Amino acid sequence: MTTILVTGGAGYIGSHAVLALKQAGYEVIVLDNLSNGHRELVEEVLQVKLIVGDMSDRPLLDNIFTTHNIAAVMHFAAYIAVGESVTDPAKYYHNNVTGTLTLLEAMLAASIKKFIFSSTCALYGVPKFVPITEDHPQDPISPYATSKWMVERILSDFDTAYDLKSVRFRYFNAAGADPNGNLGEDHEPESHIIPLVLQAALGKRESISIFGTDYPTPDGTCIRDYIHVTDLAQAHVLGLEYLLKEGDSEVFNLGNGSGFSVREVIETALLVTGKEIKIVECDRRPGDPPILVGSSDKATKILGWHPQYPNVEEIISHAWQWHQKRHGS
Ligand SMILES: NC(=O)c1ccc[n+]([C@@H]2O[C@H](COP(=O)([O-])OP(=O)(O)OC[C@H]3O[C@@H](n4cnc5c(N)ncnc54)[C@H](O)[C@@H]3O)[C@@H](O)[C@H]2O)c1
Repeated sequence: MTTILVTGGAGYIGSHAVLALKQAGYEVIVLDNLSNGHRELVEEVLQVKLIVGDMSDRPLLDNIFTTHNIAAVMHFAAYIAVGESVTDPAKYYHNNVTGTLTLLEAMLAASIKKFIFSSTCALYGVPKFVPITEDHPQDPISPYATSKWMVERILSDFDTAYDLKSVRFRYFNAAGADPNGNLGEDHEPESHIIPLVLQAALGKRESISIFGTDYPTPDGTCIRDYIHVTDLAQAHVLGLEYLLKEGDSEVFNLGNGSGFSVREVIETALLVTGKEIKIVECDRRPGDPPILVGSSDKATKILGWHPQYPNVEEIISHAWQWHQKRHGS
């Protein structure tokens, strides 16, 4: 069996990728320091080996790479809060960049040269055109996005110098949950719109805020591209297979190709949950572009990836199922 090391596999997207890898017949080892992950999802739900440790612990990495025959690394581990990265950039550069560099050096020392990286559409900055394609200019506007941009540069240089092959996936907004309700999003603090609305629907939060109602969009609220986490996970399996077949380093957007406004998301959540949610309209937040929608044509063409759950109602229904199970009283 081919063994894959998944860093950050106890987190939201990583845990769904572990499930997809298992279903595709891979053996999986998770490395996670549990700073934001959930032990029980790995050990009880996914039932794969969990190594609790940090990606910047070089002796631990050397030990993992010498005691297991690892074919490739899927790298989800990172800090992800954009706002916090502005107030504490050192934390983000240290973990997301230095930590990743340590991981890559340990891989090279063990001659492991296939790497799948969770990057972000945030490195495009304020879009100059939509839908955003992979050749859109890059201009990250937060330390979080810059940390991802830096790792992308490192990967490109490591390919040239050391022949390390990588697939870099630039996700748009990951959303939804495992359709069977066994895995889902559970961040603390939460900053993503769909879980926030669902927390309000469960009475765990008093209201939901809309930041900006005067954007140049049909209903005045920001438009974003929501991609089902199970579809993201499936793309990772395809990216892995592409690298295992000696594919060259590549970068792919992963999005839905269509956008939904904040108001549409809230209204759909009202329909799905059948609950009343108090809405508070606030001023725009600095740095929020009006429209962020990606083109994933390249992933479709090269990897054969087709999102299975493009419908926002279905995305919210799956998330609602998970939230009720996890947080419902
Ligand atoms: N959620 C999104 O919409 C989104 C969008 C674009 C990119 N991404 C990227 O996808 C990846 C996964 O995001 P997520 O939403 O699942 O986040 P998450 O916080 O749920 O998962 C990240 C996991 O990494 C672990 N981790 C963090 N630092 C670590 C370290 N030094 N050593 C070991 N483990 C460590 C955490 O404990 C957590 O389990 C991240 O790299 C993120 O930047 C996410």
